[in-house]
Amino acid sequence: MAASTTLRSSSSTAPPLTLLGRRLIPLLLLVAAMAAAAAVEAAVPASAEQAVRRVNRRGPFLGVVVPNGFEMDPLLRSPAFSPAKKLPHLDVAGRRFRFGMIGQKKVIIVMTGLGMLNSGVTTQLLLTLFDVEGIVHFGIAGNADPDLHIGDVTVPRYWGHTGLWNWQRHGDGPEKELALESNGDYTRKYGALNFSSYSVPAAGNLLNSVWYQPEEVFPADGTPESRRHEFWVPVDDRYHQLSKKLEGMTLERCVNGTATSTATCLPRPPAVAHVERGCSASVFVDNAAYRQFLRSRFGVTPIDMESAAVALVALQQGTPFIAIRSLSDLAGGGSAESNEAGVFAALAAQNAVAATVHFISLLSS
Ligand SMILES: *[C@@H]1O[C@H](CO)[C@@H](O)[C@H](O)[C@H]1NC(C)=O
Ligand SMILES: *[C@@H]1O[C@H](CO)[C@@H](O)[C@H](O)[C@H]1NC(C)=O
Repeated sequence: MAASTTLRSSSSTAPPLTLLGRRLIPLLLLVAAMAAAAAVEAAVPASAEQAVRRVNRRGPFLGVVVPNGFEMDPLLRSPAFSPAKKLPHLDVAGRRFRFGMIGQKKVIIVMTGLGMLNSGVTTQLLLTLFDVEGIVHFGIAGNADPDLHIGDVTVPRYWGHTGLWNWQRHGDGPEKELALESNGDYTRKYGALNFSSYSVPAAGNLLNSVWYQPEEVFPADGTPESRRHEFWVPVDDRYHQLSKKLEGMTLERCVNGTATSTATCLPRPPAVAHVERGCSASVFVDNAAYRQFLRSRFGVTPIDMESAAVALVALQQGTPFIAIRSLSDLAGGGSAESNEAGVFAALAAQNAVAATVHFISLLSS
C-alpha cells in the first residue's frame, strides 16, 4: 500500500518532459559512474580479491562444507582444528570462509545455511574463489532405515536430489506421458509418489502423482548451456575407499561424553555404516509415511536438506566429494529413541564431526 501511494504521488509531481530532458545527461553520467563502481566491486570487493589471491598461494585446500552452526561449532571447538593465525577467516557474499588446519590438512570451513539453494550457492562460491582439491561435507540427517540408530554415522555411495518433481495432472495414469516429457525435459524413469495411495480411508483425490526428476547439470568441462541429466551422484571413489577405514572407530555413546545416567546414553554404541544411498531436498521430513516411501522407492538411509546439492555442484566442477551424515532421528518417528532426538541431536553432531576429523586425518596420512 505505502509503496503504490508513493509512486502515484511522485508521478503526479513529476517535472515536465523538457525539464526532465535537461536533467537527463548529468543523471546518465551519474548512473554510468555508479555502474562502473559497482562493476569493480561486484560480489567480491577488491580488498577481498587480494585476500583470496593471498589465501590461494597457500593452497590447495580441502573444503569442509557444513549446513549450520549447530553442526559446525563442535568442529570449531575441537582440538583437531587450528585456525590460521594471520587470516582466520574471510567474509564474501554473506558467507564466512574459515581457514586453518585439521591434522596435517589445510582446510577451508564454510557454513551454508539450510536447504538446497544455500548449500549449492555456498559450494559454488567456495569452488569459484578458492583452490579446493576436494570437499568433505558433514552434518546430521533424518534416518530412513529402522535398523540403524540415532548417533550412527552414515557414508552413502550415492546422493540424489528428491525435490525436483513433475506433478502430473489429475486423471492421467502412469502410462501417460508427462507434460514436456517428449522434449526430454522430464522423465518417468525414477518413479512417482501417488497421493491416492495415502488416502485415509482409501479413496482417490485430486493430487494424482509427483514424478521424481533428475537434475539438469552443466559440467564445467562441457559445452555451456548444453544440459545433461543426473539423478544419482556418486561420491569420489578414492574418498569412498578411504572412508571404509572409519568403520569400527569409536563414537560417543553418551551426551557430553559422560555416562551420568542412562537417559543421556544411547542403548548401544553408535557405529559408522557404509550405505548405498542418501537423498536431499529442501523439505524437512518428519513423516513416517513419506520416510517409508523414500526408503522403499529409492533405498535411501540418510535424508537431509543439503548433501545432494553439494554433490551436484562438486560433480559439475569436477571436484572430489564425500558426505558424512550422522543420524539424529528416525524421520517421522516410530521408535522409542525418536522421542529422544532433542537430547541426542548434539551427540549426533559430535559424532559427525568425529568421523569427519578422522576421515581428514586419513586423507593426509
Ligand atoms: C494414482 O492413483 C490413482 C488411484 O489408484 C489412479 O487412478 C491413478 O492413475 C494413479 N496415477 C498414477 C500416475 O499412477
Ligand atoms: C552438555 O553440555 C552442555 C555444555 O556444557 C550443556 O549445556 C548441556 O546441558 C549438557 N547436556 C547434558 C544432557 O548434560
